[in-house]
Amino acid sequence: MKIAVCPGSFDPVTLGHLDIIRRAAKMFDKVIVLVIPNQDKHPMFSLEERADMLRRVTKDIENVVVDSSDGLLVDYLKEQNANIIVKGLRAMSDFEYEFQMALTNRQLYGNAETVFLTTSIELMYLSSSIVKQVAMFGGDISAFVPAEIIEEVYKKAERKNKNDS
Ligand code: PNS
Repeated sequence: MKIAVCPGSFDPVTLGHLDIIRRAAKMFDKVIVLVIPNQDKHPMFSLEERADMLRRVTKDIENVVVDSSDGLLVDYLKEQNANIIVKGLRAMSDFEYEFQMALTNRQLYGNAETVFLTTSIELMYLSSSIVKQVAMFGGDISAFVPAEIIEEVYKKAERKNKNDS
């Protein structure tokens, strides 16, 4: 059974992430979407909130499960007896950072293999940061995130606006 782990901060999940998850699900027997902290980012949603949104938007994909961890990605891979990491690449600007992570993970765990899927061209510009920015100004995010989570993103953005002011 080929298990792939699709890790990310997913703060929140975008249509770009969902596209990568759906395509990975066609390539592997099981895909574990793993919400895991990125130490370089300040998240808007808790790990549990992010995992919960992912569960809602992937519930129709049979071989996808969602999990979260606050440790090292390679430790999670070892626990799951998995060695494949799937990541999406949007542009060359993603490449250097993703390449560094892939090499670090392989240095930490010799079996780890990172597979990069190229983004769908119409979702190339999309990122969780853009979604949060637009939501905080009350803009339309319906082209950016799955319909099931739109309200939750607006609510969180509104709360953040209130707390910041
Ligand atoms: O969606 P992101 O923020 O680009 O994903 C990055 C993420 C969360 C996958 C990466 O920061 C990560 O793997 N964090 C867990 C800690 C870890 O294992 N770090 C070593 C790999 S560089």
